[in-house]
Amino acid sequence: MSLDVKSWKIAAAREAAGLVKDGMVVGLGSGTTMVELVKNLSKRKIKGVIFVPASVMIEKAAKRVGLKLGTLGDHDELDLTIDGADEVDQNFNMIKGHGGAHAREKIIAKAARRVVIVVDSTKLVRKLGERFPVPVEVLPFSASFIENDLIRLGGHPKLRKEGAKKTYVTDNGNYILDVKFHRIQNPAKLECEINCLPGVIENGIFVGLTDAVIVGHEGGVTTIRSKRDFLKRI
Ligand code: 5RP
Repeated sequence: MSLDVKSWKIAAAREAAGLVKDGMVVGLGSGTTMVELVKNLSKRKIKGVIFVPASVMIEKAAKRVGLKLGTLGDHDELDLTIDGADEVDQNFNMIKGHGGAHAREKIIAKAARRVVIVVDSTKLVRKLGERFPVPVEVLPFSASFIENDLIRLGGHPKLRKEGAKKTYVTDNGNYILDVKFHRIQNPAKLECEINCLPGVIENGIFVGLTDAVIVGHEGGVTTIRSKRDFLKRI
């Protein structure tokens, strides 16, 4: 099987763009799949749609193609949020935040009446943690202190870097600890345990926030709405 992941992302993003209808307020997540979505949206004849971006990166991409932007302050309920993910399991639990934007992405997911996740098929996993670490956004002041707590929770934290020496800084001015947990048995419990540590802003485990997953794969695009659909795809 040839792994043409980029074309799978483009195909899935095209499908997701079709969900955006005139007059909607739509939350936009972050990442390369979302950039493909934004490019596709710019070619569509949609009227009166306002997009609420979750990161500086996607805000710039949306501005570049002329999409109309708003803020969560102006629109506290979103009709739809579309976002990417790093891992998705059969219960639609996810790991997000490889792009460092998961704190705001969780907010626009919570604020939306419907959340649709757009991925290529390499992102579907049997257990969260199989491939990606859990990104944990922390106050810079508390980073080394929190590392010990994350080790106590069974994780292996690593401070995210940008290049060889520079520490990665989020859009919110914080650091990220990428924490490898291998196979996560109870995502909901771990999400809460991590967020209870003082100094943690938000972690990248998303539970119960997804209505459907659009998957680009070899030979086409499938919309997954149930565990049964998921198991047919993995
Ligand atoms: C950013 C995210 C992204 O949605 C996730 O990393 C997927 O990115 P990509 O579409 O580039 O594979 O959570 O914080």
